[in-house]
Amino acid sequence: MLYQSKIAGLGSYVPENVVTNDDLSKVMDTNDEWIQERTGIKERRHIKKGDGNSTATMGVKAAKIALERANIDKNDIDLIVFATLSPDYYFPGCGVQVQEMLGIHTCPALDVRNQCSGFIYGLSVADQFIKTGMYKNVLLIGSENHSGGLDMSTRGRSVSVIFGDGAGAAVLTRSNHNGQGILSTHLHSEGKHALELSLKGPSTMHWVPEIIEENPQEDIPYYPYMNGQFVFKNAIARFSEVIHEGLQENGLEVKDIDILIPHQANLRIAQFIQKKFQLKDEQVYNNIQKYGNTTAASIPIALTEAWEEGKIKEGDHVVLAAFGSGFTWGSAVISW
Ligand code: UT7
Repeated sequence: MLYQSKIAGLGSYVPENVVTNDDLSKVMDTNDEWIQERTGIKERRHIKKGDGNSTATMGVKAAKIALERANIDKNDIDLIVFATLSPDYYFPGCGVQVQEMLGIHTCPALDVRNQCSGFIYGLSVADQFIKTGMYKNVLLIGSENHSGGLDMSTRGRSVSVIFGDGAGAAVLTRSNHNGQGILSTHLHSEGKHALELSLKGPSTMHWVPEIIEENPQEDIPYYPYMNGQFVFKNAIARFSEVIHEGLQENGLEVKDIDILIPHQANLRIAQFIQKKFQLKDEQVYNNIQKYGNTTAASIPIALTEAWEEGKIKEGDHVVLAAFGSGFTWGSAVISW
């Protein structure tokens, strides 16, 4: 027998420190007009040294809210899934840190490495474990600490102005209502474009002493690299495909989407998708203006805020879609 999973609680957390476009223009050659026109971003949050935030601790803060709203005891969590590209440590992953910080018994903790698609990959993993009956309750977190690893000079401006810090969490549980919950997830990847959006070092291919010895200042591989226009073109194509795939699988049409929550990569990407699918403003949720691109955290933060604002009601068809480094992409269709 296959069970169905549903989202029982959502939570999010962002650091208090607001960094506006004008703040960035003081440290690099950029300006508010360029950033807003090309990305839609007005401000983002950055962890401040000493504020106690890290990828894992922000994840814990979001998780506590999600657990409370789900009304599920932390010790009833059977599995933690943690999605991030910016873990506190090279190893171990953040999942075990969360398990310790929340004081949960020895449940398994799994980190997923799928960047902007991390939350949807994690959602799919959680869904499969619940579907088979192996686990009943799964805590899923997406969290990122980008700010400390960005090139904040003019050299890094096309990447650094986009990313922000934050965390979102969802508690998934077995659904008791027939048809309510995750209807489907679709995941894809295309590794031939792995380095088009990547952080090459430090890594086992580029150890720190090698980087220092071999690389001139202008080619430092320990800042993220993004072939922006190439990523943009692939994003709009893959977003469209994977949303269609999700709708088709469930016999739904575009008009059946109550709310689409796209990964908050760039407002222009979301607007392109909205136009292509001819969705009304109220059918698409965006909050990139406030937080920038928080990678694995962007969908759970947006989902939480949409829910808090009363934009998601019981029975609604909620569609999530993401695209990012890997390349990886995916969608989830949920009957709320
Ligand atoms: O979340 C994972 C997936 N990520 C994405 O989906 C991101 C996809 N890509 C993008 O969002 C866009 O490509 C960017 C926002 C990253 C860049 O926008 P763009 O319209 O593709 O700009 P561009 O890189 O082609 O740069 C255009 C110009 C260049 O100047 P020249 O060569 O035309 O003189 C850049 O040097 O804008 C310049 N530029 C900037 N100017 C002011 C680049 N970054 C900045 C900046 N401020 N921050």
